[in-house]
Amino acid sequence: MNTSTNLRTHQCGELNMQHINNEVSICGWVAKVRDFGGLTFVDVRDRYGITQLAFNIETNEALCLKARALGREFVIQAKGKVIERSNKNKNIATGEIEIEVSELNILNESITPPFTIENETDGGEELRMKYRYLDIRRPILNERLVTRSKMIKAMREYLDEMNFTEVETPVLIKSTPEGARDFLVPSRMQPGNFYALPQSPQILKQLLMVSGMDRYYQVVKCYRDEDFRGDRQPEFTQLDCEMSFVNQEDVLQTVEGLTKHVFKKTKNIELADFIRLPYAEAIKTYGSDKPDLRFDCKIIDLDNLDCIKKSEFPLFQNATGNEHIIAAINATGCANMSRKQTDELVDFVKMPNRGLSGLIQIKLNEDGTIKSTIDKFLNEEQLREIANAMGASKGDLILIAVEKEAKVRKALGDLRLELGKKQNWIDKDKWSILWIVDFPLFEKDEETGNIIFVHHPFCNVHPDDVQYFDNEPLKCRAQQYDLVINGAECLSGSIRIHNKELQDKVFQKLGFTEEEKEERFGFMVNAFQYGAPPHGGFAFGVDRWVALMTGAEVIRDVIAFPKNNSGRDLMMDAPSYVDPKQLEELGIGLKK
Ligand code: AMO
Repeated sequence: MNTSTNLRTHQCGELNMQHINNEVSICGWVAKVRDFGGLTFVDVRDRYGITQLAFNIETNEALCLKARALGREFVIQAKGKVIERSNKNKNIATGEIEIEVSELNILNESITPPFTIENETDGGEELRMKYRYLDIRRPILNERLVTRSKMIKAMREYLDEMNFTEVETPVLIKSTPEGARDFLVPSRMQPGNFYALPQSPQILKQLLMVSGMDRYYQVVKCYRDEDFRGDRQPEFTQLDCEMSFVNQEDVLQTVEGLTKHVFKKTKNIELADFIRLPYAEAIKTYGSDKPDLRFDCKIIDLDNLDCIKKSEFPLFQNATGNEHIIAAINATGCANMSRKQTDELVDFVKMPNRGLSGLIQIKLNEDGTIKSTIDKFLNEEQLREIANAMGASKGDLILIAVEKEAKVRKALGDLRLELGKKQNWIDKDKWSILWIVDFPLFEKDEETGNIIFVHHPFCNVHPDDVQYFDNEPLKCRAQQYDLVINGAECLSGSIRIHNKELQDKVFQKLGFTEEEKEERFGFMVNAFQYGAPPHGGFAFGVDRWVALMTGAEVIRDVIAFPKNNSGRDLMMDAPSYVDPKQLEELGIGLKK
């Protein structure tokens, strides 16, 4: 790694005992000045590390005084001899040496930064966002950007090897159907008309297959005007791919190969083959289509247990009539939870987005006794039957939910994850990578009752479910797949419809009129009449994947200049008002 230039011979992370007595020149930012009377030490930092500079008042007074006057974040060049340190620091790569400085040049001064440029900084997030260019000087952040770059390089390497061609697609386009709101760009030349920023290059990459490009990829920005949170940004990056003459298996194999290559190249980890879990099974067992399998804790259905069927407990008795299911999770080792702690779990499942009315608890105490919140209705033998069915043993806590199926699965799935985090069940050194396959093609919009697409309207029907398409569309599965890494949806893709008749039928099912279809997708439907090959593809959410690989909690931390949760760029102060003249040119008036 040669980064020497006319100003520097080495980086700040490079020098060690092998360089003793070398005459060197290094450049960087002043991280710290320590003055011990006779001796002054300056830590100089660059992207690669920190090197200690030593100055001695006895041997060169002027130089030492110059060093003492350096301010934090001054940009300097120091020349001198590498010497062995008397006080070694084993924690950093350069900790055994220092530079006995003979020449010190101030390349630029700095005003005092608003927070300390260290991993453990005193700056709050808002402040760091405003001064993001200083935030990125912190080693933890610039290391993440370096990992990001390495990962993208590894992706390109793999895809190039597999004969993929990178093709750029436009940013000013017509609205694409990914289910979020579009960002719009007004046209000056055609007042009243708007471009949309692509939510993804979905349609364009499919058209490239009609063009015969065969294997396309692009590292591409996507724009979605939706509610932002930790794993969502209004603009984010996809590794977008599409392939011709493939079936689902071909695409899954390509993604597996790519993912394994990137893990090997960036983390030196050899991954095993990925598990495949049908969507319905994931929801049934983990209450989620993105389960984290770094820990177990499955949802177990109890409806058919003898003791439950025969129980006089009204909630159990009335379950069938109310279309309720009875299911539970086993919180391993949680029998000793305090009342306050179990109340918190109950409050958690009662929150409006989960909507359970409570949790039935069975504690298998360490002393061998068994206690439950429904002792009145179930005797010890019955409780032990439930414990057996749950595979629970001494020290465990069983949490049972009774409600409509969707609510029970979601609430227990969320609870499983909450417990996983709180109880430290998650082994941070483990990777959980799995496919979710066989997603439903359509779902019912709860508000309108209309049929809507689950992913986008170009996903093909599962070959075994074509029979249901006309009369029972909600039964149809799609040839759609997601890749889930450590509980985060990192990739989505599908085999597409390449046949005009089927595409027309899907548009019809989704309730598009002929006019709407023509207006929104006319160009695509048209193109598909000119020999569209069978094709399919996928898009990786690059930011999410990088966040996982770097241990970042939120994707903001792996994006150089991100937006905050309200979609603001605090550094540039965007979005912002524009000059009324600009609006006038665009023919736009603002409502008061
Ligand atoms: P999808 O909409 O599922 O599929 O997006 C693919 C992946 O992109 C990531 N992602 C996001 N990351 C950060 N911020 C966001 N707002 C955001 N939205 C999505 C996720 C997701 O899995 N065209 C299809 C892909 C295809 O079918 O080929 C698409 O865009 O990790």
